[in-house]
Amino acid sequence: MKIKVAVFFGGESVEHEVSIISAKQAMEALDQDKYEIIPIYISKSRDFYCGEELRDLSQYKDMKALLTKVPQVTLVKRDQKVFIEPVKKGLFTKPINTIDIAIPVVHGTNGEDGTLQGYLEMLKLPYAGCDVISAAVGQDKVVMKHILENSNIPMTPWFWLYAHEFETRKEEYIKKASDLGYPLVLKPACLGSSVGIVIAHNEEEFVAGIDETGSFDFKVVVEKMVPNLREINASVLGSCFSAQVGELEEVAKNDEILSYKDKYQGGSKSTKDTSGSKGMASTSRIVPAAVSEDETVKIKELALEVFKVLGSSGVCRIDFMMNGETHDIMVNEINTIPGSLAFYLWSPVGIDFTKLMDELVKIALDRHRRKEKMTFSYDTNLLENYSESGSKGSKGAKR
Ligand SMILES: Nc1ncnc2c1ncn2[C@@H]1O[C@H](COP(=O)(O)OP(=O)(O)O)[C@@H](O)[C@H]1O
Ligand SMILES: [Mg+2]
Repeated sequence: MKIKVAVFFGGESVEHEVSIISAKQAMEALDQDKYEIIPIYISKSRDFYCGEELRDLSQYKDMKALLTKVPQVTLVKRDQKVFIEPVKKGLFTKPINTIDIAIPVVHGTNGEDGTLQGYLEMLKLPYAGCDVISAAVGQDKVVMKHILENSNIPMTPWFWLYAHEFETRKEEYIKKASDLGYPLVLKPACLGSSVGIVIAHNEEEFVAGIDETGSFDFKVVVEKMVPNLREINASVLGSCFSAQVGELEEVAKNDEILSYKDKYQGGSKSTKDTSGSKGMASTSRIVPAAVSEDETVKIKELALEVFKVLGSSGVCRIDFMMNGETHDIMVNEINTIPGSLAFYLWSPVGIDFTKLMDELVKIALDRHRRKEKMTFSYDTNLLENYSESGSKGSKGAKR
């Protein structure tokens, strides 16, 4: 019997459309002889839909019409199984299907940040990619940077602040900013795709930038801008038990930073676009990145280290920044569900997209099995001995 694989995509983040494309690619890559592929689309209002039409990209041009063709569904756990059931039920409504394993291909908020993973955990469903905590950590640049700093991973100097505290602590932050040295890059802590990122060349732009970036997140990351930036990305596949790193890519940008447009709308007019029709991103990329052998080794080692210290799993993309003058290498961020699942960094090392999907399924099942074997609770007779009147706050209290 085929393994029933549900691919979750969409979601309410700024990367909604990107996710639809990544998921379509992932579903096409999954081996149809081994897997029954079930698309589960998450709308911007967090409703789930299931149906074959969701695999056809042209249907998304008229979203309203599409959502009348496919039923809204909910997941129900019953008898150790997870069922996909229609939300609107009649007397004789049957479940639409069951799921053996989930593959989240949702970028950004409520998909890549641990929320969907938490939902799948509650259903006891094996799922591909990072678990709750590593997904959450990967999404929050402030938390991620603290962990990386703690593991002595090289990064550009930075600090962070709560946007709502800026007015009352203005002088302190302005001093911190000038100590770091302009130009600075301001980023919302938990967004992606370059949305809400501002470059501040001076104090005035810094003050205005906090206002702008702070409209996307409570937390704002302030970073020293890397001069003559070169961006090199590495993909890591595996888990804390074993992991490997794929080919490196260098991405080109048009503006001061790699913008949303560069990433997805063909903003770059690079002379050497090796991406072709592969990958949803129309970013101009050079694979393998034109860096020295030593630099390649260093970047790959760092990528594996980042993957490990952040507790990652599945296929991730770790993005590096290289100072074009000094060739200093710094880690920028991790993408725990990268666009197109970074498949184009695996084919050059002999792992095609279909094999990559196989690996994701294998890693997910392995984690599930290992977790099932672990002890999360033990039987006690706490409630047997508990009396409402007496022991409250003493023996009954959680310590
Ligand atoms: N410290 C920096 N110096 C120079 N450019 C930067 C810096 N940080 C980010 N950028 C530019 O902004 C882009 C987006 O930043 P990133 O941290 O990757 O956020 P996102 O999660 O939105 O992708 C990067 O790809 C790069 O082009
Ligand atoms: Mg990025």
